[in-house]
Amino acid sequence: MDRDGETAHAPVMLEEMVMALAVDRDGFYVDATFGRGGHSRGLLAELSSAGRLLAIDRDVDAYESARRLAKADSRIRARHGRFSLLRDYLGDGDDGALGAPSGVMFDVGMSSPQLDEAGRGFSFSAPGPLDMRMDRRDALTAGAWLNDAKVEDLAAVIRRYGEERHARRVARAIVAARPLKTTTDLTEVVTRAVPGSRPATTACARVFQAVRIHINDELGELDRGLDAGFDALKTGGRLAVLTFHGLEHRLVRRRFRHWVEGPKLPRRLPVRHDPEPAARRIDAVGKGLRPCAVEIGRNPRARSALLQAVEKLRPAENALALASQTKGAAA
Ligand SMILES: C[S@@+](CC[C@H](N)C(=O)[O-])C[C@H]1O[C@@H](n2cnc3c(N)ncnc32)[C@H](O)[C@@H]1O
Repeated sequence: MDRDGETAHAPVMLEEMVMALAVDRDGFYVDATFGRGGHSRGLLAELSSAGRLLAIDRDVDAYESARRLAKADSRIRARHGRFSLLRDYLGDGDDGALGAPSGVMFDVGMSSPQLDEAGRGFSFSAPGPLDMRMDRRDALTAGAWLNDAKVEDLAAVIRRYGEERHARRVARAIVAARPLKTTTDLTEVVTRAVPGSRPATTACARVFQAVRIHINDELGELDRGLDAGFDALKTGGRLAVLTFHGLEHRLVRRRFRHWVEGPKLPRRLPVRHDPEPAARRIDAVGKGLRPCAVEIGRNPRARSALLQAVEKLRPAENALALASQTKGAAA
């Protein structure tokens, strides 16, 4: 617990995040993943009394934490929901539309309070129910899915989102052990199913990650959230994203490359002009920053973090729309 009675979450790469956003003191910012507000507090410290912050989180405990902060600081608006719906929240300030943000930040994945609270079911090392929903209003729990899905679907999710090479073996073991009720049941099944050459904790971490990503549609959310954030930004505004594993790193890298290099049109099209890039990379961040050794020593959860950021130069064009427009002009 911290001084305000909040369960703590140490913000990762806080200084780098604030630097990447090049904070305009009177600007309007969006924290798409409020958590316990570590990054929000860092940003608020840079804002004048005219600055504004919209804090979003799909987790009700995180949202309640944002509401408490908003009661104490009139610059903040809090929203409970998914960041993929960010554009819907911009019209809703108590004092009217919030407008186009100068910056949007994402710090995706789980917060320490989510991971540490055994009752949420996210941790393979703490006994708890097989829940894993970030938003407890969602219908599907990890247990309901694990006890119902076909072997092929279980294996596909464990392979794709956990990058676990014994995915099929684990999937068959899950089906054989049903019904699974607790995180301990799942941990035991995975530990028995994988051959002993690696520590069982590696396989458990991969399987829990896979199930969590699937239950919360984390990569779909990130994909739509990046588009929503970039679309909402004003020209000259910045999008900064912290990710924690290869699947997320690559998704952000691909999307940023698309904006920075322009949409790739098929070579055979008689293109009249090269589409202008929609974004530029930020010099101090380049293609991505990692936390320094001191931070990793202080906060081991930071070790896999990658910060990527871009500045918006103009609205992004949809590559497919552009391609068909070019095709039409050539016909
Ligand atoms: C790593 S934590 C953020 C921690 C925060 N930056 C801090 O310093 O306290 C990630 C947060 O993002 C939230 N989250 C994840 N996916 C989300 C989504 N699609 N929409 C809204 N919030 C999301 C989680 O509920 C969690 O609270």
